Amino acid sequence: MTRTVLVTGGAGFIGSHACVALAAAGYEPLILDNFCNSDVRVIERLSEIIGKAPAFVEGDVRDKVLLHKVFREHEIDAVIHFAGLKAVGDSVAHPLHYYDTNVSGTVVLAAEMQRAGVKTLVFSSSATVYGEPECSPIPEGADCRPESPYGRSKHMVEQMLTDLHRSQPDWNVIVLRYFNPVGAHESGLIGEQPRGKPNNLMPYLCQVATGERQSLQVHGSDYATPDGTGVRDYVHVMDLAEGHVAAVKHAGGRPGLLTLNLGTGQGYSVMDVINEFERATGQPIARQLGPRRPGDVAAYWGDPARAHKLLGWKARRGLAEMCADSWRWQRRNPAGYASRLGVEVAHSGIELAQEL
Ligand code: NAD
Ligand code: WQD
Repeated sequence: MTRTVLVTGGAGFIGSHACVALAAAGYEPLILDNFCNSDVRVIERLSEIIGKAPAFVEGDVRDKVLLHKVFREHEIDAVIHFAGLKAVGDSVAHPLHYYDTNVSGTVVLAAEMQRAGVKTLVFSSSATVYGEPECSPIPEGADCRPESPYGRSKHMVEQMLTDLHRSQPDWNVIVLRYFNPVGAHESGLIGEQPRGKPNNLMPYLCQVATGERQSLQVHGSDYATPDGTGVRDYVHVMDLAEGHVAAVKHAGGRPGLLTLNLGTGQGYSVMDVINEFERATGQPIARQLGPRRPGDVAAYWGDPARAHKLLGWKARRGLAEMCADSWRWQRRNPAGYASRLGVEVAHSGIELAQEL
């Protein structure tokens, strides 16, 4: 029998890719999203990739009445909870909105899961809960010292889920701490659609490549890193998506609480990413060395060994594929889901430079 997975935030960047991976593994994704940071047209794109339209409910994860109805009307086996707000700077300006969506939203969801007897939950946390790490690679046991309301909201949910599991040990909770998700599905049909000027490196690079932005500001070139620029653990969004499928499979019927890093375990500098992007896509990237960005850490990357050991999951896609797939999505959809310049058959990212 097909198992149904409720995917809150399933229209978003990571959630939409997780729906593809779930469907490929034989699960039935049921999306719940209020589209506050996504586009309803993602549903059509998902239909093209999956071969049939995924079920979806438009609504807010904080809406108790709606959630009660969703759990009553669908046989849900597990929940993956992506719905949330994620912009660090925005969270400093609007902390209550962040705590309400991220923390209260999870309280409502978990309470309705409990009422419906659904006890398998995979939660989207973030490496941002570690704050400035003492060392890299960061193990899951490292101290958590989140530095923004966003990071604290994720850490609060982690603590709340720990208390929930302590009181109800028959729950299966898997907390996934993602490092820096980038890339897109190889079809070029779904990807990340930032609103306004991107904060993150990869979408900014893509917009420089299309000519929409003049040049990339490298935020700091005097860090104590091999080339002076910031180092991060970039992970392909399809690898992350497959990590969620592995988590759902692992959680099935096995009560417990697990906290796992999802990253590659490899750090790349801003210059590494620019160079690889140019190589993989054939696009020259104009850049300027600028000052450090306030709040940035010099370098961190995760230790993904526990996820490998317990879930059998390992990131398989390298930086070249992350760049090529991000670029394919951007090039085919210069205005995100509002535009589309043609459908492209899946390619290995490495071939893209020649293809262009
Ligand atoms: P995203 O904004 O693309 O996706 C989040 C989705 O949740 C969106 O479709 C949005 O419309 C929906 N949503 C937001 N509030 C909602 C609400 N109250 N009710 C229903 N739907 C709501 O973000 P993403 O990059 O796909 O991130 C998914 C999750 O992963 C988030 O919880 C985020 O904090 C976490 N995360 C993201 C990153 C990253 O860099 N992208 C890193 C670590 C963790
Ligand atoms: C990466 C590197 C920048 C833009 C953020 C959140 C984190 C998590 C993932 C949700 C850094 C440099 C960037 C630019 C640059 N999200 N950079 N020029 O800051 O590591 O993590 O996204 O949980 O919480 O903080 O990602 O992509 O912004 O930056 O030089 O225009 O690229 O300084 O070294 P970050 P990022």
